[in-house]
Amino acid sequence: MIVLGIESSCDETAAAIVNSEGKILANILRSQISDHQLYGGVVPEIAARSHLEHLDRIIFTAMEKADISFNQLGGIAATAGPGLIGAVMVGLMTGKAIAATFQKPLIALNHLEGHALSPRLTDKEVTFPYLLLLVSGGHCQLLIVNGVGKYERLGTTIDDAPGEAFDKVAKLLGLGYPGGPAIERAAILGNPKSFKLPTPLKGRKGCDFSFSGLKTAVYQLIQKIKVKTGELEEQHKFDIASSFQHAVCEVMINRTTHALDKYRKVCQIGGHLVVAGGVAANSELRKSLKGLAHESNIRLSIPHPSLCTDNGAMIAWAGIERLKLGLVDGYDFAPKARWPLDPKAGRPLGMGKPGKLGMKA
Ligand SMILES: Nc1ncnc2c1ncn2[C@@H]1O[C@H](COP(=O)(O)OP(=O)(O)OP(=O)(O)O)[C@@H](O)[C@H]1O
Ligand SMILES: [Mg+2]
Repeated sequence: MIVLGIESSCDETAAAIVNSEGKILANILRSQISDHQLYGGVVPEIAARSHLEHLDRIIFTAMEKADISFNQLGGIAATAGPGLIGAVMVGLMTGKAIAATFQKPLIALNHLEGHALSPRLTDKEVTFPYLLLLVSGGHCQLLIVNGVGKYERLGTTIDDAPGEAFDKVAKLLGLGYPGGPAIERAAILGNPKSFKLPTPLKGRKGCDFSFSGLKTAVYQLIQKIKVKTGELEEQHKFDIASSFQHAVCEVMINRTTHALDKYRKVCQIGGHLVVAGGVAANSELRKSLKGLAHESNIRLSIPHPSLCTDNGAMIAWAGIERLKLGLVDGYDFAPKARWPLDPKAGRPLGMGKPGKLGMKA
């Protein structure tokens, strides 16, 4: 079975062809970084227009590289949310059009499921149930993955996502966009112990995350240094980047340790700790998690960095996993800006309750 995967939920236009053995026949991606760089972040309108301009060519290039025709496809998987709604609509509509034209099954995919199942594409030993740390530009969650479509959320961020924090801190330091890789490069030249930054929720009960206070602390630190010395020197930037990255890793390890305790109630011995999403590309985080997995006697699986950030291969693969179970969608499937993996999970700590007025409306 061969599936075409289409990804357009944010600022990567991507298409990939993957077969049911997990062989990636083509994986084509165009990053929109240069379209958004001027603004220091993703502009939704520009993202949608850029997908529209490039997606056809990217799909044709993937088909050509894989050397197959649309008739040979077993299905079309397209991201249907969550994400920037205009951007999602471009990929989903394109997927529907190809599926309808060639009378193929459509799999309208949750982008987060693409990330969640991505380790199984390249690591055949990852079996259900596994503990998933999903760390990306828009999300930060710890989940038990019991099967395809079966997610139990143990914790989530109560404010920002770590990728967003990396991007914001890089912007504050003038390191450019996207911030994750820029912080990682700068951090190599800095000392992680130079500044004591807060580690929000570390040591607190549960598996939730918080990053907004850490972001603010970096902002205040920069202001303090500027008042003292007049400007931020290069070495200050490296040291702040390194201290920030260190604080993020500390939080991640602490929250994942708590989640491991809960996972052990489901899977007493062995099992898998799986990490996915763009921030999982961070080598310092990968190193810290390797240490935790070793201490906790759990097998760690993290995809190659190129499969951590958004890509078409993870969408094609999640499509294959769904198709194998007969889980297909109608051509009337509506795109979703928000789409939690575990809809039954309650509101996270500190998020309050919906107001009475809202409920009446
Ligand atoms: N090496 C790295 N270190 C830290 N962060 C990184 C690294 N590489 C990428 N990132 C961050 O990962 C994020 C992008 O990840 P991803 O593509 O999974 O997010 P997204 O698709 O925008 O969000 P979501 O998947 O939640 O919808 C960006 O915020 C980026 O800064
Ligand atoms: Mg993503």
